[in-house]
Amino acid sequence: MSENFKINRFVRYVGVNDRKTHLFENLWPLPQGVSYNAYLVIGEKIALIDTVEACFTAELLEKIVRTVGNRPLDYLVINHMEPDHSSSINAVRQAYPDVQIVGNAKTLQMLEGYYGIHKGTLEVKEGDSLCLGGETLRFYLTPMVHWPETMMTYCEQEKLLFSGDAFGTFGALNGAVLDQDMDLSPYWDEMYRYYANIVGKYGSPVQKALQKLSGLNIQAICPTHGPVWKKEISRVIGIYDKLSRYEGEKGVVIAYGSMYGNTAQTAMHMAEELAALGMEPVVMHNLSVSPLSEVLRDVFKYRGLVIGSPTYNAGIFPPVEALLNALAARNVKNRVYGCFGSFTWAGAAAGKLQDFGVAMNWDSAGEPLELKQGYTKEKTEACALLAKNLVAKL
Ligand code: FEO
Repeated sequence: MSENFKINRFVRYVGVNDRKTHLFENLWPLPQGVSYNAYLVIGEKIALIDTVEACFTAELLEKIVRTVGNRPLDYLVINHMEPDHSSSINAVRQAYPDVQIVGNAKTLQMLEGYYGIHKGTLEVKEGDSLCLGGETLRFYLTPMVHWPETMMTYCEQEKLLFSGDAFGTFGALNGAVLDQDMDLSPYWDEMYRYYANIVGKYGSPVQKALQKLSGLNIQAICPTHGPVWKKEISRVIGIYDKLSRYEGEKGVVIAYGSMYGNTAQTAMHMAEELAALGMEPVVMHNLSVSPLSEVLRDVFKYRGLVIGSPTYNAGIFPPVEALLNALAARNVKNRVYGCFGSFTWAGAAAGKLQDFGVAMNWDSAGEPLELKQGYTKEKTEACALLAKNLVAKL
């Protein structure tokens, strides 16, 4: 077994990398792939922590055998039942018929619902432990990070936290598993995108989980996606803490729709005025072009937000509306907000965008800028005022 897969003396990585799936959850793009991480904790007894997506079952089983030879698995701990981690459970059970499946009450209900498994299970509750002989696993329930049954498993002797989706990132692993052995630059933006796309709705449960874990001495975080964190533990916890408090960094996202370029001109003038005031970064997204996944990443990352839309069917342009729906679903908080809209014969978008900011309880940078038909010079003054108000609040 490669040394790369050695997390420490008694813990091994047996996860896999997916570079063939285009869309995670059939929804979110995976330009750099994704890993499904699973781990073996090897005491006198052996526990497998989570499984992998079903297309990769054979690779998981082969890695287990390569690691422990013909020793059987004693336990399969299920931290999370979403099928990207659970859909190899039946195959693991077939390969290791005596393995006991460990989960909390909600896990076991889902185990039966998804896979018809109701025997050979061991229910654990908050704070329960499982002794492997030499290694002890303790369980912490962390509901809604990212599903109701989610829990984390802490290996007491090794001080490792198996965190499930928390602290995960998109991006397959390119050989190395530990953060200290790889170039991390591709993963930071992917962590924001992963959080915003997948976990973003659950800020409050993430905060509760962080508080629950705050007393643990953690030497490594082993998530279900992305690198194992040893060197960057505090940075990673800091990112999740900030994101789950919806605390954006200084910067402005301008997200707009435009049918014929007039609303786009307004967006461009807004960007120029912001840049002239020294604001950076200013990130622009044409919502007919940028993937929603990346727009959400940037909205979660930065505190300033400007949204623009033409009036379409007496409402908001559909790609802009899709963004509003995604932001409302995630209950994004604490944004400094400006908006602009355009129309040809009857204005609707500007007012609706303003109402949206009020409904989200965002800090308004002023009245919406409204454009009738083409862009005119006078609008540049209105852009400048909105930009000035935004910058003053950031
Ligand atoms: Fe990676 Fe919520 O599953």
